Amino acid sequence: MRKLIVGNWKMNGTLADLEAIGNIADVAEGMEAVDCGLCLPATLIGVAVAQFPILAIGGQDCHMNESGAHTGCVSAGMLKDVGATMTIVGHSERRADQGESNADVNGKARATRAAGLDVIICVGETEAERDAGKAEEVVLGQIEASVPGDLGTDGISVAYEPVWAIGTGRVPSSDDVRAMHAAIRSKLTAMLGDAASGVRILYGGSMNGGNADELLAIDNVDGGLIGGASLSAEKFAPILQAASTK
Ligand code: 13P
Repeated sequence: MRKLIVGNWKMNGTLADLEAIGNIADVAEGMEAVDCGLCLPATLIGVAVAQFPILAIGGQDCHMNESGAHTGCVSAGMLKDVGATMTIVGHSERRADQGESNADVNGKARATRAAGLDVIICVGETEAERDAGKAEEVVLGQIEASVPGDLGTDGISVAYEPVWAIGTGRVPSSDDVRAMHAAIRSKLTAMLGDAASGVRILYGGSMNGGNADELLAIDNVDGGLIGGASLSAEKFAPILQAASTK
């Protein structure tokens, strides 16, 4: 399976950063063995699509409805309209900051697929949940309720992002990543059948040029969702390089 490496710029980036996006596009163009994307703030999607057609550009969220009285929200169709090809849904920062439930995330994933965009559905346990021995139970519960089980597997990826590893420089042991990704694969197979073998399961949480090689070599780690280390070509390139050799 080709690896998928996606940068999540979160609430970072203005027009002044188009040069950095261009530098990332140049690096991605040379990495034919890897699928690479950047999920940008909504304000930058249209201009980045126009200037850097080589890059797959995505959103970081969408509303579950197509249109209507939802001030400040963006629909999947609007993302598609400006040239996005994917979006993240259910990121832990949105689950925490905006109180998004699994049902919300499920609705957003459905809306994304209905608009013809690929979707990256995020799951992950908190540190307290891991310390209580509940990491797998929590994550598999999120998968069960957040992944629309009746839509098949086309255009669907899952990102396992332990909340405690995001932006902290801390990463789970390779054994813990291996065990969680295997459990997610089994759960997806139970929900979606054999086609679940083609669903890419990304790891996210402090992935960087120093640890990407080890993380991306783990069974069932089919790519990465990268925050801080996706903000410059200098930091992102070694991750793409590691993925291209797997
Ligand atoms: P960091 O790579 O900055 O830890 O962020 C991970 C993440 O949340 C990607 O969605």
